[in-house]
Amino acid sequence: MKRTILLSPGPATTTDTVKQALVVPDICPRERDFSTVLQGICRDLVAIVKGDDAYTAVLFSGSGTAVMDSAISSVVPGNKKVAILVNGAYGERFVDIAQSYGIPYVPVLFDAGTAIDTGRVETVLKNDPAISCIAMVHHETTTGILNPLDEIGQLAEKYRCTFIVDAISSFAGIPIDIRQCRADFLLSTSNKCIQGMAGLAFIICKKSALEQVKNNPKRSYYLDLYNQYLSFEKSGQTRFTPPVQVVYALQQALSEFFSEGGENRYARYTENWRLLRAGLLGLGFSLLLPEDLESHILLTVLEPDDPKFDFDRMHDYLYERGFTIYPGKIRQKSFRLSIMGDLSPEDIRAFLDAVKAFIKAHEISLVPVSY
Ligand SMILES: Cc1ncc(COP(=O)(O)O)c(C=O)c1O
Repeated sequence: MKRTILLSPGPATTTDTVKQALVVPDICPRERDFSTVLQGICRDLVAIVKGDDAYTAVLFSGSGTAVMDSAISSVVPGNKKVAILVNGAYGERFVDIAQSYGIPYVPVLFDAGTAIDTGRVETVLKNDPAISCIAMVHHETTTGILNPLDEIGQLAEKYRCTFIVDAISSFAGIPIDIRQCRADFLLSTSNKCIQGMAGLAFIICKKSALEQVKNNPKRSYYLDLYNQYLSFEKSGQTRFTPPVQVVYALQQALSEFFSEGGENRYARYTENWRLLRAGLLGLGFSLLLPEDLESHILLTVLEPDDPKFDFDRMHDYLYERGFTIYPGKIRQKSFRLSIMGDLSPEDIRAFLDAVKAFIKAHEISLVPVSY
């Protein structure tokens, strides 16, 4: 199979064995054999974040936004507010979801790429007793910034708030201890750092927190978290048709995750991130974030000031050579490169060589744009 290198932040590059796992004998998803596969997947997802019997995973067919939608619409009680910490587009998406359900929310806003100030978050929580939930994105894929999970978890505990964490682009790439960070609901998908195929999203839930959402207003039929949980507990089957083949690919991706080991995966990602970072700086590119704020998964690269530089032209040049790069999502002209997925240091070196050849071929000067 032709190997392509995706430096876009998910769906990520997968192994051939994960791709091959999609091809399975046809099976009805109501069969006991399929339930056994799903139950094993749920146990594995909880184990990745070091959860115990007090936690469970609830699966949905859909992309990451489906579980963001499910968490906000299911978890916030009728007469309470959710504080939403925003320093990028995915924090904004939580706001959009709350707005679309008419759920009262308090946005705590920071510029994209700016660290979340926990002091400011605490002031908001202290002054508004109607806030009973906090929603935060762990790795804000808009810029590559890693937000302070444990610190916000401590505030959630102090102010008795339910803690919803979008770990969509960090789960399985960055070690997370769900008990230590005190997340009640932790969200991710099958197609990012777990290195499976797109089509499944899941919420790892603290069971006691799940029981508390039972009597909340039913704002969504399809994405009702408690019903999805209860139905799977009772029958071992998903409420609605699951993406059957994607489930088998996820089972294979999980087995490969455990063979590699969570710490080793993080070490591999960190090595690839360091190589990419150093290589880009060596070529003369400028980066949005200082190293200490970065997730080790994604870099936002500022476009150079040279009119000869054209993102689309660079994209097409690299795409023809098997590398996919991704546009920026911030005010400044930029593009993003993610190392999530089945990538090796050799892949990163080959990518940097291709970028160098592009720069040379188009005689681009890499003096950064000044803002
Ligand atoms: C942090 C984060 N949250 C949510 C999403 C939305 O996921 P999807 O595009 O799968 O709906 C993404 C997608 O990249 C993401 O990176």
